[in-house]
Amino acid sequence: MCGIVGYIGKRDAYPVVIKGLKRLEYRGYDSAGIALANGGLKVYKKKGKVAALEEAVIGEDVKGHTGIGHTRWATHGEPSDRNAHPHVSNGGSVAMIHNGIIENYAQIKNELIKKGYTFSSDTDTEVLLNFIEDIKKNNDCALEEAVRIALRRIVGAYCILLIDRDDPDTIIAARKGSPLVIGIGKNEHFLASDASPIVEYTKEVVYVNDYEIAIVRADELILKNLGNERQTPFITKLDMELASIEKCGFDHFMLKEIFEQPQTIFDCLRGRLDAENGTITMGGIQHYAEQIMNAGRIIMIACGTSWHAGLVAEYIFEELCRIPVEVEYASEFRYRNPVIHKGDVIIAISQSGETADTLVAIEKAKEQGAIILGVLNVVGSSIARVSHAGAYTHAGHEIGVASTKAFTAQLAVLTMIALKIAHTKKSIDDERYFALCRELIEIPDKVSLVLQQNEHVKALSEKYKDARDFLYLGRGYNFPIALEGALKLKEISYIHAEGYPAAEMKHGPIALVDEHLPVVFVATKDAYHQKIVSNMQEIKARKGKVISIITEGDTVSPTLSDDVIVVPAADEIVAPLLSVVPLQLLAYYIGVAKGYDVDKPRNLAKSVTVE
Ligand code: F6R
Repeated sequence: MCGIVGYIGKRDAYPVVIKGLKRLEYRGYDSAGIALANGGLKVYKKKGKVAALEEAVIGEDVKGHTGIGHTRWATHGEPSDRNAHPHVSNGGSVAMIHNGIIENYAQIKNELIKKGYTFSSDTDTEVLLNFIEDIKKNNDCALEEAVRIALRRIVGAYCILLIDRDDPDTIIAARKGSPLVIGIGKNEHFLASDASPIVEYTKEVVYVNDYEIAIVRADELILKNLGNERQTPFITKLDMELASIEKCGFDHFMLKEIFEQPQTIFDCLRGRLDAENGTITMGGIQHYAEQIMNAGRIIMIACGTSWHAGLVAEYIFEELCRIPVEVEYASEFRYRNPVIHKGDVIIAISQSGETADTLVAIEKAKEQGAIILGVLNVVGSSIARVSHAGAYTHAGHEIGVASTKAFTAQLAVLTMIALKIAHTKKSIDDERYFALCRELIEIPDKVSLVLQQNEHVKALSEKYKDARDFLYLGRGYNFPIALEGALKLKEISYIHAEGYPAAEMKHGPIALVDEHLPVVFVATKDAYHQKIVSNMQEIKARKGKVISIITEGDTVSPTLSDDVIVVPAADEIVAPLLSVVPLQLLAYYIGVAKGYDVDKPRNLAKSVTVE
């Protein structure tokens, strides 16, 4: 949440920072702002998206080789010009941007008010900034030193960038909990919340760790801890191509990412699953295979779409590995007093690897002796660093705020882990194991076939776009897919949608059914297919509109459905990788038909780094 960008070097900072902010807009788009050190401090900020900021600065002097910029997802204070970052200290000499939340800001604010400080915004950021300025003044010290002293008292999460009018050749940065990457160029440095604003300039980056302060000049990067000890910057090579962060001819990132799925699932399986020989190679998991097999239970911890992947995985692990699995919302898990036994295996599932609730939840479990495995998309993310081991999903950069390709990659990885454990534990026989390996390897081609239904789904979206509510129903492995379909629709089209286990619908939601309610059945062939067909009949009997996702060759469901979307036949364990795709398309096209900005749905942000 919130994207931050900084530049220092030989170029003009403004175009670099603005372009970077556009790349990071998926992290929040309530307001945007920029500060430039340019013989003084120049600060421009505007409510709304980065384009509004660009318009506001037309004709302004935006020169300067040092600059910081921010795109905001509001926490403290409504989206407005005055709450937009950067903020400037009371003395007027320091500008700061911030991603995160300062939890003890109220107490510090009161202390500063007593000293005569005034505040022009409602943000916690302005409080931290003036706290830093106050320390700098009282101790007559450098900005770097004042930041260090201030941060020792701060409770909360932050990534901050500061520039000082009186030292325009330095950016001071620090992080705890919110990400910060520094790109290393020739006599220039780039700072950002993730690597997407950096990749076109350099592939050499340093991921700053929690409790580190960076003193960044054009030709120098110094890292220190909060105890003022020098740290050696660990330079890594970015594994990211520019094309991966551009739309490449698609109207939206979301559509591009839906269409990338045959490739991203293939990338996820590549080098790991050898279906012919029946081997699954996953280094991190292999190392903990013994502990996973002997675990009293596995707990999946995640939020949102990643939590839905955990629900599918629960069914798969219990079926194949015969290990009890619990699936927890990270936000609930972290604030109750969960019973965790030494040796419990936690699987943290997260696209961004930065979700605050998931991060804190696993830290808590780790303290109590659990083994933490991460199923993550972003390499080097905070959750990756806290985990003992794990497996990356290799879905590539996901920019659309609604998660699509990361979800299917999560399912692919979790299925491989379950298969590997089941095979090692011998909880499934070889025949089933080999058959499932083959099923999995065929998925990318089958997803391509599902995508051929694109125009058909688009036409359906026109037919149903004006519905007020939607109900999504599924059973077994497809129950979490019903939840996911409903979540996608809510996010993108702002239509109220609920996902339910198909049979549970009789215990309440059936009261909603009338001739206006579209009911989406995720009804691919499985062991209990006849049951969901009966549920369709129940909806039809009450005049609901039935849209069914069915397996090719199913001749019964179409007779009960107003519309069908057909997917290739697949084993029920891998079927969710197919059945979710039309639901992603349906949500996308309904959102587009209603005229919404599907890549940046209102109120949402991609990386939820606040609790
Ligand atoms: C939904 C969506 C969110 C995320 C959730 C967790 O489309 O994107 O529900 O799934 O915020 O994010 P990660 O996976 O980054 O932990």
